[in-house]
Amino acid sequence: MSLPQKKVIAPSLLSADFGHMADSAVIAKEGGAEYLHFDVMDGAFVPPITFGPQMVSALRPVTDQFFDIHLMIEHPERQIESFAKAGANGVTVHVEACTHLQRVLQQIREAGMKAGVAFNPHSSVDALEWVLDTADLVLVMTVNPGYGGQKFLPLMLHKIAEVRDIVSKAPHDIHIEVDGGITPETAAKCAMQGATAFVAGTSVYGNPKGASEGIAALKGALHER
Ligand code: DX5
Ligand code: ZN
Repeated sequence: MSLPQKKVIAPSLLSADFGHMADSAVIAKEGGAEYLHFDVMDGAFVPPITFGPQMVSALRPVTDQFFDIHLMIEHPERQIESFAKAGANGVTVHVEACTHLQRVLQQIREAGMKAGVAFNPHSSVDALEWVLDTADLVLVMTVNPGYGGQKFLPLMLHKIAEVRDIVSKAPHDIHIEVDGGITPETAAKCAMQGATAFVAGTSVYGNPKGASEGIAALKGALHER
């Protein structure tokens, strides 16, 4: 089995206060989140526009967390080097945005980062088998990308299990990440199917008791406290 033993929480800055991003990054670190998730949107692959590598380099000095970049953009291959220079640790590209997926994943690794591949809810994971040796993370979208605060799609639980079966054939560790509508309840369900990395925007930064409580609740549900 090639799943990492330790589960990780990745608070999504999309739900943080854009006027105080550095504070939000520090809060996530202090709350015990191993990853910090950056949702990069270009107004083309998804309707909204968010931020780019400048945000990554601005936050790099404030925390040593793993910077997990989710590129919801067309032509991601054009942006890999900029994110590497900015201090990203991992870059995930969408299968739907890559004509030459294996080449892009290779490019991410050659830039010194972990390579991730994301699948929209309607996309089959058949391609995974053919890029397995070049992937460090598989992102199963549990909502349609573009917006925070959407409802978890329960059909994706089956897809996580499908990904787990494929990933188990890899000789190296591969994270299975879930993103969209992740709460303590849905995180626990995803973990049962094999998910090991949990992106959460609303349930962390929108938690009425604070982001640290949100992270603690997720860890509690995953028995990682
Ligand atoms: C959606 C993004 C997510 C988003 C998740 O396109 O990829 O990372 O921030 O937000 P929640 O946790 O609120 O569903
Ligand atoms: Zn995301």
